[in-house]
Amino acid sequence: MADTTDVIVAGGGLIGASIAREMRRRGLHVTVVEAGGLHGTASRAAAGMLSPFSEVAGIDPAFETLAAASLDRFPAFARELAEESGVPVEYRSAGKLQLAFTEGEAAHLRGRADAGDAARYGVEWLAGDALRALEPALSSRVLGGLRIDRDASVDNRALVDAAVTAARGAGVHWLEGARVAAITLDSASNPSRSTGVLLESGTRLAAEVVVIAAGCWSGRIAGLPAALPVRPVRGQMMAVRLPGPFLEHVIMTAQCYLVPRGDGRLLIGATLEEAGFAVGPTPGGLATLALAAAEAAPRSASLPITESWAGYRPGTPDGRPLLGWHPHVANLLLATGHYRNGILLAPITAEIIAALATDTPPPVPIDAFSLARFDQDTHG
Ligand code: GLY
Repeated sequence: MADTTDVIVAGGGLIGASIAREMRRRGLHVTVVEAGGLHGTASRAAAGMLSPFSEVAGIDPAFETLAAASLDRFPAFARELAEESGVPVEYRSAGKLQLAFTEGEAAHLRGRADAGDAARYGVEWLAGDALRALEPALSSRVLGGLRIDRDASVDNRALVDAAVTAARGAGVHWLEGARVAAITLDSASNPSRSTGVLLESGTRLAAEVVVIAAGCWSGRIAGLPAALPVRPVRGQMMAVRLPGPFLEHVIMTAQCYLVPRGDGRLLIGATLEEAGFAVGPTPGGLATLALAAAEAAPRSASLPITESWAGYRPGTPDGRPLLGWHPHVANLLLATGHYRNGILLAPITAEIIAALATDTPPPVPIDAFSLARFDQDTHG
């Protein structure tokens, strides 16, 4: 296997699987190393919201350009993965309602609706009664809010399954149950080059190019000039079973979000905790979510909980992902640190990383996402 592998991808979540599939489509021989242990990985723990407007618009123009490009690609990406895998992925373009309960929140959201980027996402301010006409389950305490027409959602667990199946179907070699412990380096070359990876089992795998797509575990991969600045940011979530029609839109408040699924579940998320890799969920985390959900949609409080879980977002010091060539290891690609937006950013990340690996220009500017921005902290 080692002598037919051009590329090793460390991490087989949605990002790693999407990259591997895209590289394979461009003719590369790819091996993905995936630890497994599915819960706790960000791709499966996420809610599947595709929300550039709420997450990055008006805050970070470079990030918004990246996120908007990925949102544009999502319908085709989801359709192709579903077709290639036979796994339905429930891409929904019903939009999102972002709610205000106080005059302060209302003023903030009205300002967002008037900002220059709002038209691009089909954003309009609606009064409370207009929101309740759209979604009768909403509380009478909702003062008003934004309707964000272009926001979408996807069943992220199905999407990961689809991406893995599509990648494997395209001929990607999938090494399940193995974790990359270290990048192996040829330090005699200048700049250093990676020779491949060392697995936790002690096995060495050789490759021409290595990609780190290991999410929150990326910061633990040894062998680099400095550890990658990626840390876990815990998110707790739960799912409740709906008695019948309840919500059409994704709902967001300052405290929580509610994401309806076609299988009759409502996802309620998510805490944002600097708890390291501490195991969750916790009673306190779930209680916070339950109260926040009930503030938006009171009847949610009496619905049966079917599942609760915790995942670990891969956070970076500035909240932007790490994308592109490692500045000090010539043939090492980074595709990690996607923090709150890993599902949304999968299609554009796959295109960027596959383009770089095949010596073609990336489809959008990526300088803002280089590890070099942290150079004082991560080198020398
Ligand atoms: N994308 C939402 C979250 O990370 O909770």
